[in-house]
Amino acid sequence: MAADRTSERKLDHVRICLNRDVQARQVSAGFGDVALVHRALSDIDLGRIDISCKLLGREASSPLVISSMTGGTEKAETINRTLAEVAEEMAVPISVGSMRAAIEESGLERTFKVVRECCSKAMVIANIGAVQLVSHGPSYGARAVEMIEADALAVHLNKLQEGVMVGGDTAFNGVSKAIAKLVEALDVPVIAKETGAGVSSEDARLLKSLGVKCIDVAGAGGTSFAGVEYFRAAERGSSMGQKISLDFWDWGIPTVASLAEVRSSVDLEVICSGGVRGGVDAAKALALGATCVGVALPLLRKAQAGPEAVRDWIRLFNEELKLSMFLSGASNLEEMRRCPVVVTGAVRDWLLSRGFDVDSYSRRKGA
Ligand SMILES: Cc1cc2nc3c(=O)[nH]c(=O)nc-3n(C[C@H](O)[C@H](O)[C@H](O)COP(=O)(O)O)c2cc1C
Repeated sequence: MAADRTSERKLDHVRICLNRDVQARQVSAGFGDVALVHRALSDIDLGRIDISCKLLGREASSPLVISSMTGGTEKAETINRTLAEVAEEMAVPISVGSMRAAIEESGLERTFKVVRECCSKAMVIANIGAVQLVSHGPSYGARAVEMIEADALAVHLNKLQEGVMVGGDTAFNGVSKAIAKLVEALDVPVIAKETGAGVSSEDARLLKSLGVKCIDVAGAGGTSFAGVEYFRAAERGSSMGQKISLDFWDWGIPTVASLAEVRSSVDLEVICSGGVRGGVDAAKALALGATCVGVALPLLRKAQAGPEAVRDWIRLFNEELKLSMFLSGASNLEEMRRCPVVVTGAVRDWLLSRGFDVDSYSRRKGA
């Protein structure tokens, strides 16, 4: 019964994300406040730029992760298969959506397992909710990893979504201890992942102390889960649910501010996601210290259109990233991470008021 409700909710998310505008309205991810410094003269051939990447020790052809989205229903299985086939072919890491439904109902396992079946080389990342860990313990995470022979496990932190949702699970007391126990019990790395509200420097330090190896900031400015819940509440005729979701639609730390906060505070690998919409955004995220970027909504929409649309999106992403690197004077990702960037506007204001040295980015000497 609980699994039915979980998979029903996951189906709602996909349907709403495909048909409605669920992106942030008033808050921007912040990429418009970041400028890479153009280099008119650098000894680089565009054709020789290397965008190969390493995430948690695994090689990838590009600094891109297909972010956690779905599983648990027939439609989800089709989407997962499409994304996984392209992930394998293009050597791009792929995450599955929350595996709660399949952990609760083994009949749904195939909707997630399809990803591992398609991927013998591409990195596969499992996904569970932190709040479920509290009540079920580390074996819950181990079950998710085992189900898809995952290379890493993402534990999602989704207080905003659970908080605005009618009947959401908001018993987060004990979450930190549960994550620490999970890290100890697993032999694959744990990624702490937000779902659209960002990670602060305070939480990044705490997560590092718990033993997580990577943080996916999933900041505000891309898909808004309060936005998704707004449409679910409207369909259920819950005016209170609608009002709350609307008021929290743009809640969160903008993605770029979150990335800078996390990278300035801890020396962990960082996935930058939440409103990343192309290769230029990715180049900016790399310059601010990201290991790679994660993309959800645009790839969900392309997956609906079929594998060729997903391939085309990734090819365009790669070309734009290479061109951004060519123009910034970086021939590989390590050099891109040393390029100067100028941070202005709302992101600058945010970082200055939080005590970060924003000008250290613009005064770098470059690659
Ligand atoms: C349809 C859909 C379902 C999602 N489900 C999950 C999930 O189960 N677990 C999770 O960690 N994040 C989930 N997310 C959040 C994404 O992984 C990502 O963090 C967020 O959407 C921001 O990226 P974007 O702006 O590129 O969409 C989901 C996103 C979408 C669009």
